[in-house]
Amino acid sequence: MVFTENRKTIAKKSVRQADPCVIVIFGASGDLTKRKLIPALYNLASNNLLPDEFAVVGVARHGQSSEEFRSKISEDFKEFAPSNFEQKLWDWLESRIYYLSGEFKDSETYVKLKMFLSKIDQKFGTQGNYLYYLATAPRFFCNIVSELGNAGLTTESQEQWRRVVIEKPFGTDLESAQALNRQITSVLNECQIYRIDHYLGKETVQNILMFRFGNGMFEPIWNYRYIDHVQITVAETVGVGSRGGYYDTSGALRDMVQNHLFQLLAMVGMEPPVSFDADAVRDEKSKVMKAIVPMSEADVLNYAVRGQYGSGFANDKKVPGYRTEDGIAPNSNTETFAAMKLSIDNWRWAGVPFYLRTGKRMTERVSEIAIQFKQAPSLLFRDTPIDQLAPNFLVLRVQPNEGITMQFGAKVPGPTMKMGKVAMNFCYSDYFSSTPTTGYETLIYDCAIGDATLFQRSDNVELGWSVVKPMLDVWQNLPYGHFPNYGAGSWGPIEADQLLERDGRKWREIDPNFCGMG
Ligand code: BG6
Repeated sequence: MVFTENRKTIAKKSVRQADPCVIVIFGASGDLTKRKLIPALYNLASNNLLPDEFAVVGVARHGQSSEEFRSKISEDFKEFAPSNFEQKLWDWLESRIYYLSGEFKDSETYVKLKMFLSKIDQKFGTQGNYLYYLATAPRFFCNIVSELGNAGLTTESQEQWRRVVIEKPFGTDLESAQALNRQITSVLNECQIYRIDHYLGKETVQNILMFRFGNGMFEPIWNYRYIDHVQITVAETVGVGSRGGYYDTSGALRDMVQNHLFQLLAMVGMEPPVSFDADAVRDEKSKVMKAIVPMSEADVLNYAVRGQYGSGFANDKKVPGYRTEDGIAPNSNTETFAAMKLSIDNWRWAGVPFYLRTGKRMTERVSEIAIQFKQAPSLLFRDTPIDQLAPNFLVLRVQPNEGITMQFGAKVPGPTMKMGKVAMNFCYSDYFSSTPTTGYETLIYDCAIGDATLFQRSDNVELGWSVVKPMLDVWQNLPYGHFPNYGAGSWGPIEADQLLERDGRKWREIDPNFCGMG
């Protein structure tokens, strides 16, 4: 970076900058670009992780010049800029943003793009390295990839790389994901494809690997001998918002479980990889997904619960039910909540159920993984007032107020034997200063240095779809009429509680005061 020599020196000494490259954003006039991608690029620049040999080209249908696009992006950025905004840094980034208008399905667009990119290469020294970011509706994914291929824009050489980032949803079921994989791998090598799951960009999700494999004390107890069960909760307070059109054809299983929740499950359940090499990590993730016992139709009816919210309260405000939201069919059968019990049939997890739940319009916005340990033998306390031992939980709080907490029992001071529930908390904010982040910084940076560890390989995605397939199939054939079955602002349908109660367990009570929340 030219304007602060000091920063440049620091960056050289510490972390490698991204390779010289052009990021080509297809669908650049959409929300993702303004909310996440441009702010993430700004944050990368402010951490000195972008080289001078860098540019962005937005491609979309809307006819406008690069100047017009830049001024629109600058205007939008005011809303999403971090509090430590530096005008000079923004000027640096803004001067590298260009725009090309064109239809995604039109070959002419790619002929123009090729010429455009070669001019950018000459101007910025970006060396023919191109990162294509498909921030478009999924129906364009195949077209864009095949047109890029036809135009010779995906051909790599010793000197230059070409990579494609594909946003979710990657397919809508197993068959469509397989077909999409077949189509894009007929143009690209697997190592050129970066299937994104933004949960893997979250610091706390990445920290699961550090926590498990960077410390000696947890891994020995991370198995069926000591763990009773695992609960994964990804709860949102928001409703379907303005995304009704998409969501009503998707639902919680496709939108959240197949990708985000399974990423969390894989991080918790995987075996230690032989290295942090992308394929070593992704191999282990695939292995644990393969070990999930496939559900029969009867299993789906017994061990999976779906829900749809009715009217209720969110953040103390009255909110409408799902079926009356914009873009939702009045008799919609789409689930806004899903819970399930999964079994992992391998040595580590034999007999340890994984309970997963996610939903919109729930009581709190919280994502956490709670690991409940087996009870100590309670014989010792038989002749005391302690009739029940509190369960030991290790909780990895993904968001908000990221942290890790260990919950255990302690003696209440006094002459009688009483047990109180206590906790040791680690809050990120107490130890690390927070840098502004959208969650996309690491992911974009990793693409630009060619590290695919945090991206989904084709088999990872397909395995996710195979696990949800029985639920998709059974649910789609269930009769209408059971919805809504939970009120906005609740923890979901009663059946989700019964799922654990039948096993003598219950969902952990989420602590709203954790790490300063509440
Ligand atoms: C997206 C889903 O992938 O993740 C949304 O499409 C959901 O429906 C969002 O709201 C949740 O992400 P986060 O980062 O807010 O937990």
